[in-house]
Amino acid sequence: MAFEARDIGIGMIGCGTVGGGVATLLRDQAALYERRLGRPLRLRKVLVRDAKKARQGGAASELVTTDADAFFATADMPIIVEVAGGAGTIHEHVRRAITTGRHVVTANKSLLAAHGAELFALARRHQVSIAFEASCCGGIPVITALHAGLMANRIDALYGILNGTCNYILTEMTQQRKPYDVALSEAQQHGYAEADPTLDVSGMDAAQKLCVLASLAFGAQVTSEQVRVIGIDQLELTDIRFAAEMGYDIKLLGIAEAVEGKLSLTVQPCFLHKDVMLAQVRGPFNALSVYGHATGQTMYYGRGAGALPTASAIVSDVINLASGGYPHAFAALNLWSDQQPAARIIDHDDLCSRFYVRINAMDRPGTMARVTQALGEAGISLSAVMQHESGEGKFVPVVVLTHRARWGSLRQALAKVEALDVIDGRPVCIRIVDLPDG
Ligand code: NAP
Ligand code: HSE
Repeated sequence: MAFEARDIGIGMIGCGTVGGGVATLLRDQAALYERRLGRPLRLRKVLVRDAKKARQGGAASELVTTDADAFFATADMPIIVEVAGGAGTIHEHVRRAITTGRHVVTANKSLLAAHGAELFALARRHQVSIAFEASCCGGIPVITALHAGLMANRIDALYGILNGTCNYILTEMTQQRKPYDVALSEAQQHGYAEADPTLDVSGMDAAQKLCVLASLAFGAQVTSEQVRVIGIDQLELTDIRFAAEMGYDIKLLGIAEAVEGKLSLTVQPCFLHKDVMLAQVRGPFNALSVYGHATGQTMYYGRGAGALPTASAIVSDVINLASGGYPHAFAALNLWSDQQPAARIIDHDDLCSRFYVRINAMDRPGTMARVTQALGEAGISLSAVMQHESGEGKFVPVVVLTHRARWGSLRQALAKVEALDVIDGRPVCIRIVDLPDG
């Protein structure tokens, strides 16, 4: 559907946190957008589940419908913004938008991670495009950086704080000593969390974003099943405190690294030295460090969640579509996941890193000798050992930092440590990330 009318008609599926932000921007900044684009943007129809709910922003009640057929029958609506989330019916709505010749703007990383390649191919066949800046890192233009600004680079690695909810929770737990549940409920009240917040705290939301970013950066199709995911829901306050004591912060990091022609893809809580810029990203803010072979490190920082930052990415996509720039790039460049081979993933056991290990050990003669023997036999070298003073004959937390080690070797050694009669419970192990020079 070409942009024939004088104004640019927009249909919107969903009008919750992000949709409310989009409606607000379209209403409050109408004159600015018209000046920039030379034509007005017009919200024509809004599809929701419940027509009676009060709506934020400029989504006037006469625009709102629950009837999908009426929505898609609306004339002069060449752009459809999808800010509903999830797959299922929404996947069908996005397919319908494309097959009826509409460009799509979406914030839905779970849809893209699961069906991106299929939807990109469908869009290409129907000569429309899909813009998805809002799907990763909210208001920070990381997708544009990868597909436009860094085009001259071979990308070697991405390190990202990709989930605002988790970063908010970790910041509140670390700095304010708030309990996990209190911090999570605050993140929900601020509108950062997904409708189902287990997607955030389990690390799955960050994994879906990592799929979208890694596909674009490394030119390979990546699925969420290929990402090793550990959330923050299992993290204990004890480890946050030990990290602080040793000069580190714990961050949920999404990491995609090229290793000998393969990709390593992980989302997990990681130790980051406090002096590193990524460690200083706090609250709902996100950041992405991209290592390009020519640029070295470039870093993108800003609000990764919330109504207006995310709406900014959506409306920017709408303007770039309406100007004709984005559709041209989408048609001309071989960048999107339907054009890429499947990613080759490194065996996670072969990942090499430093690690933090915490064990609950009996404070009596010979305990540490048995632990270090199990680690030593696996070729694991220790760089620090820490135990607070305690009463003899009791179980106490003992913390060990390793030098760089192969994860598979450490995993096997820790199974032997766990089996010792002087050890209580499972050892806790967290990756220590040393960012490349750059
Ligand atoms: P939300 O507040 O839960 O809003 C979802 C909206 O979608 C609601 O208006 C809901 O309708 C509508 N909806 C859901 N299923 C529908 C269906 N089958 N048909 C029609 N309408 C449907 O969610 P949100 O936080 O705005 O997030 C929306 C999307 O943006 C998600 O993909 C999310 O991952 C992404 N995102 C969110 C943020 C953020 O900070 N919140 C940031 C970046 C990206 P009713 O209002 O009638 O229930
Ligand atoms: N729930 C997501 C987050 C929203 O907290 O980062 C942004 O995608």
